[in-house]
Amino acid sequence: MRKLLPLIGTPSGSHPGGRSAMTCRFRCGDACFHEVPNTSDNEYVGDVIAGAIGRRSMMRAAAAVTVVAAGAGAVTVGGTGSAQAAPVAGKGHGHGRPVKPKGARGLRFTPVAPNKDDAVTVPDGYRQNVVIRWGEPILRGAPAFDPERQTAKAQAGQFGYNNDFLALLPLPGERGRQLLVANHEYTDEVLMFRGYDAANPTREQVEIAWAAHGLSAVVVEEDRRTGALTAVPRHHLNRRVTATTAFRLTGPAAGSDLLKTSADRTGRTVLGTLNNCSGGTTPWGTTLHGEENFNQYFANSSRATDKRYGIGTGATERKWERFDKRFDVAREPNEVHRFGYVVELDPYDPDSTPRKHTLLGRFKHEAATVRLTPDGRPVVYTGDDERFDYFYKFVGGKRMKKGSSRAAREHNLSLLDEGTLYVAKLTGDSPAIEIDGTGKLPADGEFDGSGVWIPLVTADADGAVSHVDGMSAEEVCVFTRLAGDKVGATKMDRPEDIEPSPKTGKVYVALTNNSNRGVGSNAPADEANPRNANKHGHVLELTEHRNRADSLEFGWSLFLVAGDPEDPATYFAGFPKENVSPISCPDNVAFDDHGNLWISTDGNALGTHDGLFGVATAGERRGELKQFLTVPTGAETCGPLVQDRRVLVAVQHPGEVDGASVEKPASTWPDGPGKIVRPAVVAVWRADGSDIGV
Ligand code: FEO
Ligand code: CA
Ligand code: CA
Repeated sequence: MRKLLPLIGTPSGSHPGGRSAMTCRFRCGDACFHEVPNTSDNEYVGDVIAGAIGRRSMMRAAAAVTVVAAGAGAVTVGGTGSAQAAPVAGKGHGHGRPVKPKGARGLRFTPVAPNKDDAVTVPDGYRQNVVIRWGEPILRGAPAFDPERQTAKAQAGQFGYNNDFLALLPLPGERGRQLLVANHEYTDEVLMFRGYDAANPTREQVEIAWAAHGLSAVVVEEDRRTGALTAVPRHHLNRRVTATTAFRLTGPAAGSDLLKTSADRTGRTVLGTLNNCSGGTTPWGTTLHGEENFNQYFANSSRATDKRYGIGTGATERKWERFDKRFDVAREPNEVHRFGYVVELDPYDPDSTPRKHTLLGRFKHEAATVRLTPDGRPVVYTGDDERFDYFYKFVGGKRMKKGSSRAAREHNLSLLDEGTLYVAKLTGDSPAIEIDGTGKLPADGEFDGSGVWIPLVTADADGAVSHVDGMSAEEVCVFTRLAGDKVGATKMDRPEDIEPSPKTGKVYVALTNNSNRGVGSNAPADEANPRNANKHGHVLELTEHRNRADSLEFGWSLFLVAGDPEDPATYFAGFPKENVSPISCPDNVAFDDHGNLWISTDGNALGTHDGLFGVATAGERRGELKQFLTVPTGAETCGPLVQDRRVLVAVQHPGEVDGASVEKPASTWPDGPGKIVRPAVVAVWRADGSDIGV
């Protein structure tokens, strides 16, 4: 039986979730310290209740949540340090005796207890190794990593910084090998460069950061003797995509005046991809990557055409505008319109030009998850990770072609350029007065209701049409948030990753947190976002009408309301709460082949380290959530992939703790004392070689 945590407060004071100030600064440009960008007055699920119970009652509810949470005071983060370069035994905290753990098939492991160890901690009986770290050479000619003498040229041939999304693609004909694709969301300059002067970065440091952003493709190989997974350097499929790689813009906005710059009069070619958070793997063998907090790289917003994307008025954190004027909105106003898209990479063709698909809209894309309609058209779910922003669905108009011929691959790379983009609008089924902002279940026992997908823009071979009054098709594609505002989409608590179950077809939406829900003039709790000052987040389960991926209507209910299970505001799909692990700030999600949902967290506001959790979504154990691993000090758990015999996670921003630097590290992961902290990908498997969790 796991040990329950006491209710404890946010460790870093006013920072949302449990994130350090350094994370907010480098990762999202302090997004949560700015005004909520969505000031539109479109409806939200709880519109009716504002009048019914009044603002005063709302605020009482919010205050109650805050007092309970603040009572236990602050917790400081520390670590014991543990080097994990070689495969090591699982260091479970699960008090396990040698009895077979119970659980749903695929989840039969002894849960890892919440902890603050500077290590990746896995269940008893499991092993792990570091697959690849920041700076490891992957391209021919790239030098070994030397953090004291790093160069932009070296970095361009090495694995990038801050790995987030992971994909593993098959490599037919290469036994024991797979092709790993990773996102490199952002850089932590103070943890990368000794003596970094944030006010005066050098050109070389800036160009290293450009080369450390983007994507990596690298072949990995299984060691059949130990189970470890290691990188294969210099493989011909290995590739780096950076902040300066050429991309092709596609879809209705490509070539429009909104995308033309002094360097690209065509509006069709853009250099680089930025802040790639999560993503998806397509059934046609490509990968999708969401450009998330792109706004933070652009300075001097005085000439920005809209105020909905949070572009700052002054200099940026990284000062890139000093070295390339395209990052200065006052000098190059349209460059910022060329970021914030879903990008597509064909990892099997290292010479291909990756694409940015404008038809999937421009916003802070967290991820892009693909399924197919029964007749073979793609459906993509994608969320906009901002407080009070929306989640979307794209339904393609063309069918996928099977096979790997050049013609089939070229056809499939155009699938996301024809179809319709929709945004979600949700309605609760309980009386609004029963949603009091504390997380108390309404009388019908569920936070649930119905929803519709509202069309925004459609494109086909003949052109594109807007479904939004007063906006052209290209404007909908570039200013998608404004289109969502106009049609009355539902304001959500930061939509993160979205994943359909391969077993049931139900779709799961991670809503990570929203400390501003019900605070001040912001929208109050509603049935789909039922807690004011929501610091722990929730997971929504969506059932498309008739279980059809291209349906325009759906039902929904909250599957999890996260937090410590002792907190009465939490809900685990009705499963007895004394038997589940605490969870906070769900972020990336994935399914295993058994139909279990795996959830990684970012910013655990319960004061312990982030982790990876598995939960059954069907059967009598539905809602039984178990922690599978935890990550080192300051890190976020990303990119979970669960294969039959292996789990992969991306350990992002280890050591990202306020006041930490190269000289004063907060973490010594993964290589131990005296070595620079490095984001890295970790593989976990069972010591006896059998399947995960069976
Ligand atoms: Fe990069 Fe929304 O997490
Ligand atoms: Ca209800
Ligand atoms: Ca994320």
